[in-house]
Amino acid sequence: MSEATPGTNERRQKPAPGRRTLLGFLLGSSLLASLASIIYPILNFILPPPTGEVDTDTVVAGRADELAPNSGKIFRFGSRPGILVRTPAGDYCAFSATCTHLECTVQYRGREHDIWCACHNGVYDLQGRNVSGPPPRPLEVYDVHVQGEDVVVARRGRS
Ligand code: FES
Repeated sequence: MSEATPGTNERRQKPAPGRRTLLGFLLGSSLLASLASIIYPILNFILPPPTGEVDTDTVVAGRADELAPNSGKIFRFGSRPGILVRTPAGDYCAFSATCTHLECTVQYRGREHDIWCACHNGVYDLQGRNVSGPPPRPLEVYDVHVQGEDVVVARRGRS
């Protein structure tokens, strides 16, 4: 017959339920945190970020006193560029700034009074019509209104 030595019983005793619960909670929490730190970056990579203003129909393209006659500027129209032109006579006109050939961004040329695509020398007139070079179609024409200090551009039929 052997007698248990002091302390042996203490080693064989199961941990108190409170300690086991705490240990389980800590292990579970750290496992969840590890999974979250792996899954979150993957989801961030896979899911596209929200793109605001994609369906915008109206935008303030600039201030009325910003453009001198015979100049132009590129503005953001939703997710695409637009071009606002102030003609030599001082009128405003606006178009999509995406070339209809291979989608380069066009620019206004003050000396020629036209809209030019530098990629393949495409040229549009101030009505947006493709007049020379490879562009197959005219630029999309926008409506322009001066409202107080702002030059407001809208897609046709939605202003
Ligand atoms: S992309 Fe504009 S002319 Fe080719």
